[in-house]
Amino acid sequence: MTASVSSHDPRADFPILSRSVGSGAGKPLVYLDNAATTQKPMHVIETVDRFYRHENANIHRGVHYLSMNATDAYDRARERIAQAIGASHPAEVVFVRGTTEAINLVASSFAGDRFQPGDEIVITMMEHHANIVPWQLLAKKTGVVLKWAPITDTGEIDLDAFRSCFSEKTKLAAFTQVSNALGTINPAREMVAIAKEFGAHVLVDGAQGVAHGMVNVAELGADFYAFSGHKVVGPDGIGVLWGRRELLDAMPPYQGGGDMIARVSIEKTTFRESPERFEAGTPNISGAIGLGAAFDYLDSVGWDEVRRREHELLEYAFARMSEVDGLRILGPASIDDKVSVISFTMDSAHPHDIGTILDTEGVAIRAGHHCAQPLMDFYQIAGTARASFSFYNHRDDVDRLMDGIAKVKKFFG
Ligand SMILES: Cc1ncc(COP(=O)(O)O)c(C=O)c1O
Repeated sequence: MTASVSSHDPRADFPILSRSVGSGAGKPLVYLDNAATTQKPMHVIETVDRFYRHENANIHRGVHYLSMNATDAYDRARERIAQAIGASHPAEVVFVRGTTEAINLVASSFAGDRFQPGDEIVITMMEHHANIVPWQLLAKKTGVVLKWAPITDTGEIDLDAFRSCFSEKTKLAAFTQVSNALGTINPAREMVAIAKEFGAHVLVDGAQGVAHGMVNVAELGADFYAFSGHKVVGPDGIGVLWGRRELLDAMPPYQGGGDMIARVSIEKTTFRESPERFEAGTPNISGAIGLGAAFDYLDSVGWDEVRRREHELLEYAFARMSEVDGLRILGPASIDDKVSVISFTMDSAHPHDIGTILDTEGVAIRAGHHCAQPLMDFYQIAGTARASFSFYNHRDDVDRLMDGIAKVKKFFG
């Protein structure tokens, strides 16, 4: 792909954004559910399409032309992604289905293998269920103890309170870089440093951070970083667990099967090194290649441009929404402490009613608990409405959202 062209409107690269939705002629789509999944640019769509039309074959085991080419493309995708996230070696990039599988892999293979009853894992009150349930399952199985770091009323980490959760018993801290439900940007580097003071390992859930260009694993200093391709304009069903090579190499396999073995005999099996050791069976080949293309595309837009566009949208939407009577925005009070996600409630209407009325206007937002029920319990609410903006959204999309909110107010008073 070519270098950054800031005058180019990235919206034009996303074919789905020019469709209408709803019954009859419908309404032009305003897609503001980007924290759930991002739309896909032509470059990614065409890369996956080309793979299946011209290049499809299974990897690693073939001696024929197509298989060797597919293997090269898969390996190149790993190298591309390693470079994009600041990994020191492609072998640190394990392809998985997504963030959820990456965290389960660490819970099972890293923590499950070495933690003892009474060992502690620190998580926070703002985690997605993907970074809660695997640890609860582990706690039940092994007797490790979960410590929940509190958050402030504005949905932010209080570093002193976070620190007070640690002791010599802490073996791991697992926390999100950015809250999917509130948009809060956590002080991840400081949190990693606190965990390291206590000798704990650290897993960072990067599912939301990755889409806003926040991933540099070398700078972050964590031991594991997990993210999903679909949240960063890449395909579904592909994601990455980045891990320090020495840790990955010391971890037992997560699943057994083809491709992850060195030698299988009737008596025993020996395993390949990381990352193949963790990629049992035929992987999502087109997904990995598509994810490499997603990073190429984002580089061509330019991460500074991505962040600039998103911040402008956030500033505009935050100001307009703050003026609406009876509308409460949850999360940080300053837009400098959050990504382009606005989670809100309205006095008069349930979040699902807000979502449904906006949908009749062609505006797609998310309503509900956002897979963060402990956080909703903390706020003593069942859910919120959440508008999440991406670099390909326009100010017009915010205007259409505001028209929809006015309609909700008119309807519910
Ligand atoms: C912060 C966070 N963690 C984990 C996940 C789970 O990601 P996936 O469903 O792609 O595995 C999400 C998805 O919304 C998320 O926002």
